[in-house]
Amino acid sequence: MAALTSPGDDSPARTVLVTGGGRGIGAGITRELVARGRLVACGYRDSREATEKLRAETPEQVLPVHYDLGDHASANSAVREVLARWGRLDALILNAGTWTGGRLSTLDPLAWWRIIELNLGGAAALVRAALPAMRGSDDPSIVVVSSVIGLIGHAGDTAYASAKAALIGFARSLAKETGRDRFRVNVLAPGFVDTDMTAQVPGRARDGIAQSTVLGRFGTVPEIARAAVFLSEDATYCTGSVLTADGGWSL
Ligand SMILES: NC(=O)c1ccc[n+]([C@@H]2O[C@H](COP(=O)([O-])OP(=O)(O)OC[C@H]3O[C@@H](n4cnc5c(N)ncnc54)[C@H](OP(=O)(O)O)[C@@H]3O)[C@@H](O)[C@H]2O)c1
Repeated sequence: MAALTSPGDDSPARTVLVTGGGRGIGAGITRELVARGRLVACGYRDSREATEKLRAETPEQVLPVHYDLGDHASANSAVREVLARWGRLDALILNAGTWTGGRLSTLDPLAWWRIIELNLGGAAALVRAALPAMRGSDDPSIVVVSSVIGLIGHAGDTAYASAKAALIGFARSLAKETGRDRFRVNVLAPGFVDTDMTAQVPGRARDGIAQSTVLGRFGTVPEIARAAVFLSEDATYCTGSVLTADGGWSL
């Protein structure tokens, strides 16, 4: 097990809440943080079993906490659980997200709004719940996982792209609101990564994306996880930044 530490010193271990931390990109982020000796509260909605398995690998460092983007009360209870267990909260990595495809002309308006509400409203609710606890940290940091689709757009993804673009405005405004309290708020905009979320993308569309990607391949979970953790704790003079980790898809 890695020594439980904060970056650059031997003060109590840095504590990070990762939403959707039990599977996909979130599980990669959890593993990267654990390897650095951090304490990680892993938010889950459906993946309780997968999250418990992650905890079993390093029980002192991982705490599964129930958190549902659509249930704002769960944001408060997740923060309370972290404080009850570790007494501090230094960083949030807002990774949980949900996708529904469909062109504007065909997607049901309620389904369209639901994507915005979950991805944007869920992130805002957790930040609101966590800000007071994070003020005690030496380096309070928030990373918002957006998507390169929020920057460049994508046909058939108007709801998801709108939510991910809105998260960028949210993060940059929050950076301005909280900077004098030493908060850093940054955005990660990944390109295409093979996870459950992208499993339904048909072969022809995948080939098109690979061809549009300068590096000619998709990203991997560990690559995206390292970029998220870089923003969370290494990028100490970055706030309001948007880091694309997309293999050049957006170029
Ligand atoms: N994969 C890509 O190509 C790609 C590209 C750009 C950006 N992203 C973004 O990266 C993030 C992670 O995506 P992924 O590819 O790892 O997707 P994934 O494999 O589908 O995982 C989604 C994660 O979000 C959580 N989640 C979904 N709905 C939730 C809800 N209502 N409440 C709480 N948690 C919820 C899930 O937790 P449970 O299983 O516990 O419900 C799961 O951990 C998302 O924000 C996604 O938009 C992904």
